[in-house]
Amino acid sequence: MIEGKTAILAIESSCDETAAAVVLDGRDVRSNIIASQIDIHKLYGGVVPEIASRHHLENVNRVVEEALEQAGADMDDIDAIGVTCGPGLVGALLIGLATAKAYALATGKPLIGVHHIHGHICANYIEHKELEPPFMALIVSGGHTNIAEVTGYNSCRILGGTRDDAVGEAYDKVARVLGLGYPGGPKIDRIAREGDPHSVEFKRVFLEKGSMDFSFSGIKTGVLNYVNSEKQAGREISVPDVAAAFQEAVLEVIVTKTVQAAVDMKMDRIVMAGGVAANSRLREMMEEACGSRGIRLLYPSPVLCTDNAAMIGCAAYYRYLEGDFDDLTLDATPNLPL
Ligand code: KG4
Ligand code: ZN
Repeated sequence: MIEGKTAILAIESSCDETAAAVVLDGRDVRSNIIASQIDIHKLYGGVVPEIASRHHLENVNRVVEEALEQAGADMDDIDAIGVTCGPGLVGALLIGLATAKAYALATGKPLIGVHHIHGHICANYIEHKELEPPFMALIVSGGHTNIAEVTGYNSCRILGGTRDDAVGEAYDKVARVLGLGYPGGPKIDRIAREGDPHSVEFKRVFLEKGSMDFSFSGIKTGVLNYVNSEKQAGREISVPDVAAAFQEAVLEVIVTKTVQAAVDMKMDRIVMAGGVAANSRLREMMEEACGSRGIRLLYPSPVLCTDNAAMIGCAAYYRYLEGDFDDLTLDATPNLPL
């Protein structure tokens, strides 16, 4: 306990960020340390799983110690240890998990395995102190694209998901085709501001009528074919135009489906989460679509959109309140269902 509040030490290592945080009563973030590996993976154009694991291993103890130190806490002050147990890269997850288990074993404190996407949703409780379920959630990251009805702090119902690539993955792949480098999302976000979104009309894939699912592999191929055919014809492509046209096509589908889901379920709030929720054009388009229907739009600040451990601490807190603990057999599950 710190100041009479429940203190969670949280660890996140599902992809290329080694992160640890101390969070009080779920929403009061006392430290949020993130060691990013972006500069290393940039050299390879994407995350290399083995390299990610190695760097997690090198960083994790220092990151946890820093999180405790910055919070002015030691392990005696901590009530439980929260850790991402999936989905993610198995070798990466295992490092955070082994660390959390070691702390749990050594101190006898409860261990709480957190679903990474549950964590992303919870980032909004940190940002918006008054926010309570139920609400509609749009989770858009490098590994996920989901529309979910959040029914409680520890429960939600997935209404739709991607059938192939996640939206962040599509951003990253298209950025590579356009020679923009990794991670592609923020780069496309920036350069698309200078382009004409209707310079090329890429196909909007809505799937069957009423479906809340997504498919982004077609547009990725569409961009690749367009770039190749222009090159073959000896025409120079405008990177800002292609980036803007790709982004517009993808976001139009996401915004339409999410807002429709909220209208259908009579939800008056939509919450966004995940790395792509930091996208400025997505925010703009969602604000516009929500505003005209009387729906309130919420999203976290950029540092809480991308991977961090504070969101894992928040999710673990709500599980802690229910006494929902894991034991030391907790395993890393790369495709953990929500
Ligand atoms: O949530 P996150 O940090 O990791 C996963 O759980 O996947 O999301 C990373 C993804 C990457 O694909 C990155 O390109 C994308 O989020 N991203 C963005 C933006 N910032 C990050 N995509 C579009 N626009 C952005 N501003
Ligand atoms: Zn994530």
